[in-house]
Amino acid sequence: MQDPVDRSRRRFIFQTGVGLLAAASMPAWVRAMEMHGMPKLTPNRASPAFKPDVEIELAARQGSISILPGQATRVQHYTAKLLSGPKDTLTELPSCYLGPIIRLQKGQKVRIHFRNDLMEPTITHWHGLHVPALMDGHPMYIIDPGETFVYEFEVINRASLNIYHPHPHEITAKQVYYGLAGGLIINDEEEARLELPSGEYEIPIVLQDRRFNAQNQLIYGPHMHDRMMGFYGDRILVNGQPNAEFEVASRAYRLRFLNGSNARIYKLGWSDGTPVTVIGVDGGLLESPETFPYVMLAPGERLDVWADFSGRPKGTELTMRSLPFSGVLPMMAEHMGGRGGRGGMGGMMGGMGMMGAMALPVGSDYPLFKIRVTRETGESPKLPSRLSKIDRYTLDDVANPSKPVPIAISESPMAMLLNGRSYAFDDIQPFERIPLDTVQLMEIFHTSGGGHGMGHGMRGRMMGMMGGHGSDAQPEGQGMGGMGMRGGMGMMFSMAHPIHLHGDQFQIISRTVAVERADSYATVKDGLVSSGWKDTVLVMPGETVRMIKPFHHFKGVFMYHCHNLEHEDMGMMRDFLIE
Ligand code: C2O
Ligand code: CU
Repeated sequence: MQDPVDRSRRRFIFQTGVGLLAAASMPAWVRAMEMHGMPKLTPNRASPAFKPDVEIELAARQGSISILPGQATRVQHYTAKLLSGPKDTLTELPSCYLGPIIRLQKGQKVRIHFRNDLMEPTITHWHGLHVPALMDGHPMYIIDPGETFVYEFEVINRASLNIYHPHPHEITAKQVYYGLAGGLIINDEEEARLELPSGEYEIPIVLQDRRFNAQNQLIYGPHMHDRMMGFYGDRILVNGQPNAEFEVASRAYRLRFLNGSNARIYKLGWSDGTPVTVIGVDGGLLESPETFPYVMLAPGERLDVWADFSGRPKGTELTMRSLPFSGVLPMMAEHMGGRGGRGGMGGMMGGMGMMGAMALPVGSDYPLFKIRVTRETGESPKLPSRLSKIDRYTLDDVANPSKPVPIAISESPMAMLLNGRSYAFDDIQPFERIPLDTVQLMEIFHTSGGGHGMGHGMRGRMMGMMGGHGSDAQPEGQGMGGMGMRGGMGMMFSMAHPIHLHGDQFQIISRTVAVERADSYATVKDGLVSSGWKDTVLVMPGETVRMIKPFHHFKGVFMYHCHNLEHEDMGMMRDFLIE
């Protein structure tokens, strides 16, 4: 394969000249994209020098699937066909709008012919995979209806569950909501040696929430309010099914959770209080199993859970619930309900009253799916005490121990921003340029979320950091969420954000929360899994997360953004340029 980085860089430069010329003859959506400065590039073609071990044809198309009793639901979905490679590469989920599960081996060379059979542009991103920038599904690579983009990459990730989903600028949320998403599992030798439950004993669990109208059609039309909070459904779907139930044998299972919801955050807990045993996260297996009373799962995050039903008699029923928690929505939403209880469930539920159709408030207590033991067996694999080897980064490994790369979250009713700026193509700031083959300390923090006392300190710190990366690097004051609002309105809009970084996986090294937010934080903190390799991290209001991320292998543009998809589409997204 010719150097993809080079090619993408050339296109990157090339595009700036062509946009305006062609504008007059373009359909309206293209012009809309142009207005946002997005280029229209020629879709990537297959490279004859690349010899794939696996070749797949993937399409995004419209369809209709029976989800609720009665009328079928119109959806957008992925379909796939295996052209060559191992037979178990694709697994369809029965009558489900989700794309087939794609199973790849570390080291495989993969070619995917992705065809857009929708009526609007799209592009596919392999969330969690580290692939060359040209293969990463950046919105600049959107393809028109009828076009095909050919992806070619080698799988360098370790064993893990990942997601493929659309990534077109400003319409990602809608496309995912209408059904475009699928699981992508990577296997490797380290994992194979553990002989973890597999086949029927390894169950993918994709959690999503949706709203349907009386004709069983999906409702999606976020108003300003939904954009700010994220769009929430009033019904939970597991692997695309309502009222999901799994029949199991009395033995150990491997449950592969993926939060594919647009905005909803879950607090997973077993109905009988059994602790949750976590063996892996976004980037694969932990070093050893860890046990939690409950686990938080934000949009874009994954969890690998060991669930042992050994000794449970036939007929046993167990429910996985989302347990009560507070503080992930702006206080405004919690206050405006009138019951006033900050952080308390009363306040939360009352606050949600303003959301009209919302019957299933985020942070309330509701069932997700049921497990029913239908077969007794005395045989079960044992939970390995050691799962994998992870080299842990320390501050000694980073290029910038005293100047973390900032990811500043600022919140206002008009915009949710990162580093003070809304997404714009080709708008890379000096502190967003990162030298290839470095390991960087990064810090995600709220510019206004800490409460009254935090404002100026935060701001000073932010400016200090920016200054440290170059004098012109300071975000526009206005963009920072309105300095004048800090501690007052600004704090009122602070909420939780799942922040996702493309490219290499990172390690979380610390999480600290402002005292003002300690009460609500206490309702989630024992379920935050912070070990292992991550690509998405839930950042609570008032919380500061430090992590260490390597920037290896590929030059080019890699995104970072909020995985609350309404926020992403609102522009809570930026690019890093690795050079
Ligand atoms: Cu799951 Cu940039 O996305
Ligand atoms: Cu967000």
